[in-house]
Formats: sequence, structure tokens, C-alpha cells
Amino acid sequence: MKVIGGSSSEALATKVARELGMESGKLEVKRFPDGEKYLRVLEDVKGEDVAVIQSINRTPDELLFEYLLLVDTLKDLGPGSVVSFIPYFAYARQDERFNPGEALSFKTVSKLIESVGTDEIYTIDMHQHRVLKSTDVFKIPSHNLSAMPLLADFIQRTGNLQKPLVIGPDAEAEQWARLAAERLDTDYDVFEKKRLGSENVQIRPRKANAKDRDVLVVDDIISTGGTIVEALKILFSQGARKIDVACTHPILAVGALDKIYEAGAKNVVGTDTVPSPISFVSVAPLIAEQIRKEGFR
Ligand code: R5P
Repeated sequence: MKVIGGSSSEALATKVARELGMESGKLEVKRFPDGEKYLRVLEDVKGEDVAVIQSINRTPDELLFEYLLLVDTLKDLGPGSVVSFIPYFAYARQDERFNPGEALSFKTVSKLIESVGTDEIYTIDMHQHRVLKSTDVFKIPSHNLSAMPLLADFIQRTGNLQKPLVIGPDAEAEQWARLAAERLDTDYDVFEKKRLGSENVQIRPRKANAKDRDVLVVDDIISTGGTIVEALKILFSQGARKIDVACTHPILAVGALDKIYEAGAKNVVGTDTVPSPISFVSVAPLIAEQIRKEGFR
């Protein structure tokens, strides 16, 4: 078997391969002078099961195209199977036509991924809001893993939380708040969120009260930081003692991290699905575990 990382996930692929006691497969990726991409697989993959790891993150269009080149090429080289790990799956938020004539980007990207012959796909905490299951979008076998237990373990080791309360900033975050709370053996709640624009949200609390509690706020993505900042305002106004923040995908648009620290967060942590200054938790063990379970040859 081979583990091959695309440009966005080379370091992650190296870690996954190390967990499996092997070296990651090599690619040559460069640009022609006119800006077109060149890709060459430097491995003999004939008859081998290949795990491709490519987060489609900060430059999604470029990384998606590279993914298509990579998997199409691998499939031509006669592998056993190509199973893809797309730790951050861009475009999942455009899963509906909010205004007439809009592209259904989630559907288009999924079709492209299938079109090159991907045999099976794994994502990690993929944004699932209106589309509730990856199997509603993909025709190929698909699985959505969660990094939340790994993040909660990290917070438990480093955060020294007293009487912790886990909060998800919106209804969709219930799944992550529940997982983190289970791991921390404590209670959780979610807020109600209304999006007013790409950078502005309105958040209202529900039952939980953060008075005199250490709080862990969890979400799938931090992009502009607007959601987390609004959640922090509510929690501090309720009397929270200390607030830590954990997210799977630290996209972190310019200024987001500063805004969150200025709003009073003590620690902010994310994973390496999107490499960032707060990517202290690696999803490599999660991916390696699935590869072991798949019984790759
Ligand atoms: C949306 O519902 C997601 O789960 C996140 O809450 C959202 O993407 C965060 O975006 P921002 O950091 O820009 O508020």
C-alpha cells in the first residue's frame, strides 16, 4: 500500500505514513511558465491500495484541480484502489441555492471527485448543515470522521478546566459539543445562531448558564472568527471564568485569531486539516486508524 499526500497535506501524509511504519509516496508538482500545473507520480502503484490525502483548504480551486490530476493519474497506473482522505472539504457550505441562479458548489465538487474514479472518500468534520449525511451527496462509499475527541483530549491535557461546560455556537455544532462533552465527562449546550452576512452573526443562548464555569467552545470551522467572538460575549456576560476554544478546521481569515484573543479566549486550538499557528492537534492518528481498519494491501 502507499500513502500519498498532495501539496496541501504533504506533512500530514508523512505523519500518517510514520504512524503506519512506512514512508509517504512521492510526487513531483510544479508549474509551467504559463501557470498550468504539472504533476508526476514518482511511485509504482500497480496493484497497490493507495491512500490519497489532500485537504482542499486555503486555495480550494487550485488544490481541487491538483486532486483531480492526481487521482486520475493514479487510476491510470493500475492501483488496487484509491481511497481519498479530504480532511477539509471546501465548498460544503454552499449546499443550497440561497438565491436564484447560484451554483450548488457542494454537488459540483462531489461530482468532480467521483468523476476521476475515487473509490471511497473520507472527510473530517465536513460541514453538514442542510445536507445531513455525506452519503446524501456522494454515490461512492463515504465516511465523515470527527477530530473532536482528539481536540477534547488535548484540552483536557493542557487546559486545566474546572467544572467545564461545553458550548457549540449553533445548532449544527451539537454533534461536536456532544462528542467533546462525552470525552470531558461533562454537560453541554448549543446556542441559536442567525447569519446576517459572511462576517456577521447573531447568537442567542438557550438553557445552559456559564456562571463560574470554565467553558470550552467547539466548532467545525473558524473562518472570520465572528461566530466565536459572539459566543464569547454571551458566555462572559453570563459570568464564565475562563474560555478555551477548539475547532477542527482553523481556516482563520486575516485577523480572526486576534479578534478571538481580544474577546478574551484563553487558549485557541485547531487541527492540521488546515495548517495554521494553532494547529496543535494532528489528525494523523485518526486517518492511520481508518487505513488500518480498511486493511489496505
Ligand atoms: C457555520 O455554521 C460553521 O459551523 C462555522 O460556525 C462558521 O463557518 C464559522 O465562520 P466564522 O468564523 O466566519 O463565523
